[in-house]
Order: sequence, then C-alpha cells, then structure tokens
Amino acid sequence: MMESREIQLKRRPVGTPAADDFAMVEVPVPAPAAGEVQVRNLWMAVDPAMRGRMSDAKSYIPPFELDAPMEGPAIGEVLASGDPGFAPGDLVFSRLGWREVFNAPASMLQQRDRKALPTQAWLCFAGMPGLTAYAGLIRIATLKPGDVVFVSAASGAVGSIACQIARNLGHKVIGSAGGAEKTAFLRDVLNVDAAIDYKAEPSLTKALAREVKAIGASGIDVYFDNVGGDHLQAALALANNFARFAICGMISQYNVTDAPTVPRNLTMLMTKRIRMEGYIALDHMDLEAAMVAQMTGWNAAGEMASAETVYDGIERALDAFHGLFTGANIGRTMVRLA
Ligand SMILES: NC(=O)c1ccc[n+]([C@@H]2O[C@H](COP(=O)([O-])OP(=O)(O)OC[C@H]3O[C@@H](n4cnc5c(N)ncnc54)[C@H](OP(=O)(O)O)[C@@H]3O)[C@@H](O)[C@H]2O)c1
Repeated sequence: MMESREIQLKRRPVGTPAADDFAMVEVPVPAPAAGEVQVRNLWMAVDPAMRGRMSDAKSYIPPFELDAPMEGPAIGEVLASGDPGFAPGDLVFSRLGWREVFNAPASMLQQRDRKALPTQAWLCFAGMPGLTAYAGLIRIATLKPGDVVFVSAASGAVGSIACQIARNLGHKVIGSAGGAEKTAFLRDVLNVDAAIDYKAEPSLTKALAREVKAIGASGIDVYFDNVGGDHLQAALALANNFARFAICGMISQYNVTDAPTVPRNLTMLMTKRIRMEGYIALDHMDLEAAMVAQMTGWNAAGEMASAETVYDGIERALDAFHGLFTGANIGRTMVRLA
C-alpha cells in the first residue's frame, strides 16, 4: 500500500501560528474504491484565508478540523481511477492540498487542460487568485474607462493579478507593497504606473497623495483592498467622488488580537459618495469561464506574468504559509510536491 504525508492541524492557533499547532503525519493510501480517484498532488498553494480556517470563529467557510489534514487549492495528477470520468495522467484541480497522495470521490475533482497553460497557472492567474482579482475589479468595482486604480499587497497573489488586469485594460495603476525588491517587481515586471513601499513611508496617505500627483491624477477611482487598516485609510483620503472600493481582504488585521484603530476617516464614505463592498470570490464562480478565457489570451500574448514564490516539499509548506504574513513571498505562494 502507498504511504503519503499530510499536515494536520493539532491545536487552534492564537495570534501568529506556532510550529506545534501542526503535525506532519504519514498515512497509508489504499487503492481507490469504485467512484474514487487516486491523485498525486504536484502543487499546492497557501493563502491568508487558511489562517481564518485554523480558528473556529464563524466565517463564510467552515474551520479546519483538528487531527485531520488541512485543505487548500492543489493541482495533481491522477495515479489510478475507480471512476470512468478520470484516467491515469489526467491533470486535476482539488481543494485537497496539504497532502501528497490521496483518494477522493470523483465529485471533488475537476479536470484541467494540460496544454492550455503552465500547470501552476491553474492555481495562480487562471485559478482562485485570478477569479478574485477579476471579480473584484470587473463586478464589484465596476471598472470604467479612465479609472485610476490603487491596489494594496500589490505584489501578492491576488494583488499582482489585479494590477495586471487593470493595466491590460488600459488603466493607470498605483501599487503598494513592502520593501524595495517588491516595488521594483511592481514597476519592472507588472509595469504599474507608480509603486509605494509602504514600509519605508512614515505616512501612507502622504505617499499615496504624492504618487497620485506624479501620475497626473486628481485621486483614485477604484481601490482594490487586500490589507485594510492604514491602506484603507489612505485610500479613503485620496478617493475621488463616487469611487468604488472592492474589499477583497484585510490581511493587516488577521493576526491582531486588539480592536482595530484605523481607518479613522470612514465619514468620507458619505461625503465622497464612495461605494465600498466586500465580496468572496466563491460567490462569483459564474465568472470563471470568462476569466480563464481572458487570462489564457493574455498569457498567449505575453501579457500576464506568472508571479510566484515556490517552496519545495511538503515539509516546507508551513514556511510557505508563514511567508504570507512576514512579507517573504512575491506573487502566488506555492509548494511543489512532486
Ligand atoms: N475575498 C476573497 O474571496 C479573497 C480570496 C483570496 C484572497 N483574499 C484576500 O486577499 C488578500 C491577498 O491574498 P493573497 O492570497 O493574494 O495573499 P498574498 O498577497 O500573496 O500574501 C499576503 C501579502 O500581504 C502582505 N501583508 C501581510 N501583512 C501585511 C500587513 N500587516 N500590512 C500590509 N500588507 C501585509 C504581504 O506583502 P507585503 O510584503 O507587501 O507586506 C504578503 O505578501 C488577503 O487579504 C486575502 O485574505 C480574499
């Protein structure tokens, strides 16, 4: 019988997750039963939402179970199949990351086209980060010609794609990220119009005002928020009237145990008639086919850079996850499993 390694949640973390909140466990994997498929994961991705699922606070998605492998997006190859819809060698997407080899009911797997895109792209710009960026800009922020777009955590998985979508659609883009290496990436690889190193700025509001002026704009029309806190406050301060804010995430708040102190300027929502809307990409799966078609076209035209930080082996998966909160990673954070 085959053996596989998986990472289980052993204890619900308080604040920043610690190594002994998790355990690597070796488990036997029998031949798949009828209706099941056996998959070897090739890649898994980690994302900040997993931090929410490690706690048992009520959310839009259930918490991870204790003493069970965690879940997350993964792309794998079929090894053996007990279901007529799948054959060895098929490339499949699942939400069964954090493990190497597994058996699952066929209904938990989706086929992916090996030839259309590089394998990892199905976890990156043609996967959930792509859908999150696309839905946030197109449906939630209702991007209009001439909009100036501000993106926070702009070098991250979702942010780097949001910058590229806005840029490819002809918008002026200001991105914010932590550190000189990341802002160079924003300028040189993502081709944004202006980049802010928020860690080097005493006032994010002043920095955003400076960059808005530098690109010849009067303010921002769309804010794609990944961070919340100071970034949201600066975006409110620099918003034009009738700006639209797509609230995708608020990572600056996820490990905080005290009540948030910023933004302090929410009255601007009213005075500037700003529309601010939070959303969850899973509610917008109807956009997936259009998003994949758009991304495949941009990829073929060389207009979609695949931004990723790769960790090798399941034993590095927790390092990969921690890197999301320390700012160590650029683009989608992925673990190569085979
Ligand atoms: N609504 C949805 O359906 C949905 C779906 C996916 C993701 N999200 C959200 O989208 C956001 C980005 O997710 P992702 O998967 O693309 O992760 P990511 O951007 O690849 O990684 C997180 C990045 O956030 C930045 N960051 C961490 N702590 C920060 C802080 N205190 N202040 C400012 N920036 C900080 C770091 O970059 P720096 O080095 O630049 O600080 C880090 O690289 C998260 O808030 C996530 O929860 C929402």
